[in-house]
Amino acid sequence: MISSNINTDIDFEVEINRLKKDMNAVILAHYYQESEIQDLADFVGDSLELARKAKSTDADVIVFAGVHFMAETAKILNPNKQVLLPDLEAGCSLADSCPAEIFKSFREKYPNHLAISYINCSADVKALSDIICTSSNAEKIINQIPKDKPILFSPDRNLGKYLMKKTGREMLLWDGSCIVHETFSERKIIDLKIKFPDAKIIAHPECEEAVLARADFIGSTTKLLKFVIEDNGKKYIVATESGILHQMEKAVPEKIFIAAPPENNCNCNECPYMKLNTLEKLYLCMKNKVPEIILPEDTIEKALKPIEKMLEMS
Ligand code: 13P
Ligand code: SF4
Repeated sequence: MISSNINTDIDFEVEINRLKKDMNAVILAHYYQESEIQDLADFVGDSLELARKAKSTDADVIVFAGVHFMAETAKILNPNKQVLLPDLEAGCSLADSCPAEIFKSFREKYPNHLAISYINCSADVKALSDIICTSSNAEKIINQIPKDKPILFSPDRNLGKYLMKKTGREMLLWDGSCIVHETFSERKIIDLKIKFPDAKIIAHPECEEAVLARADFIGSTTKLLKFVIEDNGKKYIVATESGILHQMEKAVPEKIFIAAPPENNCNCNECPYMKLNTLEKLYLCMKNKVPEIILPEDTIEKALKPIEKMLEMS
């Protein structure tokens, strides 16, 4: 029976570690998770590293502390393992912006184009794509495509525009965006830069062009983390989901990190989907072994090909 009654005396950390051993489970977490979840996870990483870890794990159960498309990717790579996600509602605005049926018609209009899809899309969209990419390997992948091959890039228009600039390739872009990364205010970032002139601006390529134009460094979450560790600066204005600040502060506690502000006075620099996962839900999903990611066999079969292509090419 599924139990959601919570005894408030439960030490979630102790119980999660106990369940992990009993189930032979691995906990994979994205950098945008609550810091307490990141600290408890076996591995914390960006989308590409999490996919690689999911592929190489010998655990029987993968507990994915991230969003739905990430857990789906883990399931596609491990059809025989149980993949659990603490909250099934943990979606992604980018994935939602690209419904598979509409994507299918879009593809059919351009039969000669190669469909490169950002990993932030549903398993059904992956199944309709030629190659998957993440923000850390997209440039490398695009550079391997013959110059005369036209490309459809979906679903993030900001990442797409950034890649067009970086690679000098024209691409046909899907018009999707991330609700978190499009919220950063260029005006407020400039104000912060005036207040802290020695701070470097670092940004995720899902940010809008105007914000990226102000950045000293642009990269995936892992690349941003590596940059602040290796760089000789002391202060950074960080334009990505604020969960990444936890690892930055842990890695280089002597440095100062300022979360880039959203346009409105809200917490919009936190991903509302990522933050649906809590320690309590993580515990409950392991205890009850639900919610579980289940995908049709043929979707897994079709979606695996473009994911494997990505892993080969990156
Ligand atoms: P990366 O961790 O691959 O940089 O992606 C960021 C993101 O928005 C995940 O949803
Ligand atoms: Fe999706 Fe944006 Fe949240 Fe990443 S931060 S999961 S792209 S909504």
